[in-house]
Amino acid sequence: MARAAPATARSLVLQAERRFKRARLYFGHGTDNARDEAVFLVFHALDLPFACSDAVLDAPLTAAEVSKVEALVSSRISTRRPAAYLTGRMWFAGHEFEVNDDVLVPRSPIAELILDRFQPWADAEGPGRILDIGTGSGCIGIAAALTFPDAQVDATDISREALAVAARNVARHRVDGRVQLHLADLFPPRERGAYDLILANPPYVPESERVELPEEYLHEPALALFAADEGLALIRRIFAGAASRLTERGALVLDAGGTWPEVEAAFPELSILWVELQHGGDGIGVISRAELARMPLQ
Ligand SMILES: C[S@@+](CC[C@H](N)C(=O)[O-])C[C@H]1O[C@@H](n2cnc3c(N)ncnc32)[C@H](O)[C@@H]1O
Repeated sequence: MARAAPATARSLVLQAERRFKRARLYFGHGTDNARDEAVFLVFHALDLPFACSDAVLDAPLTAAEVSKVEALVSSRISTRRPAAYLTGRMWFAGHEFEVNDDVLVPRSPIAELILDRFQPWADAEGPGRILDIGTGSGCIGIAAALTFPDAQVDATDISREALAVAARNVARHRVDGRVQLHLADLFPPRERGAYDLILANPPYVPESERVELPEEYLHEPALALFAADEGLALIRRIFAGAASRLTERGALVLDAGGTWPEVEAAFPELSILWVELQHGGDGIGVISRAELARMPLQ
């Protein structure tokens, strides 16, 4: 009888991919297909870099390595937890962040705008002061601080637990002096002054959609996903409060995700520029301070 070929990283990726497809997992937390999800988990278990040679991919694995992969892959299937919660990490705008189930798994397409240095909406020299509303893991505010080394960033969240994760990410990326975290309801205290750029990925999923969501989402904090008023409650308050916190030439960059058509319909008087994203996703709107100033004050 022929002996089975030894397991390798490559064979375990293909095996995990097949199992994920069979189990009909949902992919929307950093990957969008079974192959990438398998690579993410297998490489994590084996501590492999994403760029690795064929020789490494085809090297025989030890029994201990195979069981480590098996445990992770089985857990992804049996618990339906997003892969990032199983590994405790996720990449955003080219940087690695610690995550746990107190924070949303980082995936906002705002990453693309950060990597593009917010061109053409921000001044070429970059924004001096940035506010990140609903910072979660801190990914948006910290990635912005890393992109603009002279910028000062304030980041708010209403969840103490999320801010604890964000604080560890601030320390990890050594931006302690430039990123200040605030436990606050959307906006930090007025004394913090005005911002050149406000970035916000607030909760925007209508409560009514909770029952339709794939199980993976239900492992994320409800506070990070759902908003009253058909998903518009927090966006409405951000629109009302943003102008008075922006500098003259400032702008708000909002991730409204799949709720963007409802935002467009609810605020017909507001000129929102919906960004054409190069790397997938939708719902990123840019609104100037001048536009927002037309909103009733908060
Ligand atoms: C969609 S998550 C975004 C997290 C992170 N910015 C990201 O993009 O991965 C929304 C975040 O807003 C926070 N949040 C919810 N209501 C808030 C409020 N009233 N004021 C401040 N933050 C709030 C949640 O705790 C959550 O961390």
